[in-house]
Amino acid sequence: SSGGADAHKRRAGERAAEEVEDGMVVGLGTGSTTAYAIEALGRAVADGLEIRGIATSFQSRRLALDVGIPLTDLDAVDGIDLAIDGADQVVDDPDSPAHRALIKGGGAAHAREKLVAAAADRFVVVADSSKLVPVLEAPVPVEVLPAAHTVVADRIEDLGGDPTLRMATHKDGPVVTDNGNLVLDCAFGSIDDPAALARDLSSIPAVLEHGLFVDFADTTYVGTDDGLEVRSY
Ligand code: A5P
Repeated sequence: SSGGADAHKRRAGERAAEEVEDGMVVGLGTGSTTAYAIEALGRAVADGLEIRGIATSFQSRRLALDVGIPLTDLDAVDGIDLAIDGADQVVDDPDSPAHRALIKGGGAAHAREKLVAAAADRFVVVADSSKLVPVLEAPVPVEVLPAAHTVVADRIEDLGGDPTLRMATHKDGPVVTDNGNLVLDCAFGSIDDPAALARDLSSIPAVLEHGLFVDFADTTYVGTDDGLEVRSY
C-alpha cells in the first residue's frame, strides 16, 4: 500500500480543498480527513486565497485559527458555497436506494456538521476507502439532551436499536458534545432504509441530531492506494 489510511485521507482532503475558490464561504468539517483539507486551505490562504470559514466544532475552529483561515458564523453570512467533511461510513453502491448515505458523528460533531452541510450549496465528502460499505451498519451517533438520555434510549430500543452512552476516555463519565449534550451510539445492525430510520430518529423528542446524512453528499473523494476516486451524484 502507498502509505495507508493516513495517505488516503490526505489525498482526499487535499483534493477537496482544490475545489475552493476566491470569495467563497467554506464549511469546515471535523475529523482527521477534513483536517488535511483545512491545512491545505491554510496554505492557500497564506498564498493569497480569500475565503471565510465556518467551523463545525471546537476542533475545526482551533485548527482553522492555527493555520490562518479567517472565520465567520452561519448567522453572519448569506449561505455557504461549499462544505467539506469526513464520514464514518459511506454507502457506495449505485444500485442501492441508499447510495451516498453517510454515518457521521464519530467525533460527536454531527449536529453542527449537518447544519453546515444543509446550509451549503455543495457538500463534498472526503474519505479513505475503508469507509466505503455496501450497507450502513455502524452504530448511529445520536446527540441527546442530558436529561433525556434514558428516555431516548428506551425509544431507540423500541426502534430496534441498541443504544450505548458514549463515555469519555480521559475523564470519568460521559462524552459531552460542543453543545453540552450527550451521545448515544445506537447499533441497528444493517440499515437497509437509512431515510426511514433518519425520520424515526428525528421524531424522538430531545434528540438534537443524529448521524445519518441521507441526501447531503454532492461529491465524494475517496483516497485509495492508487490515488483518488471521485463519486459525483
Ligand atoms: C465528526 O463527528 C465525524 O462526523 C467525522 O467527520 C468523522 O468521524 C470522520 O472522521 P475521520 O476523518 O477522522 O475518519
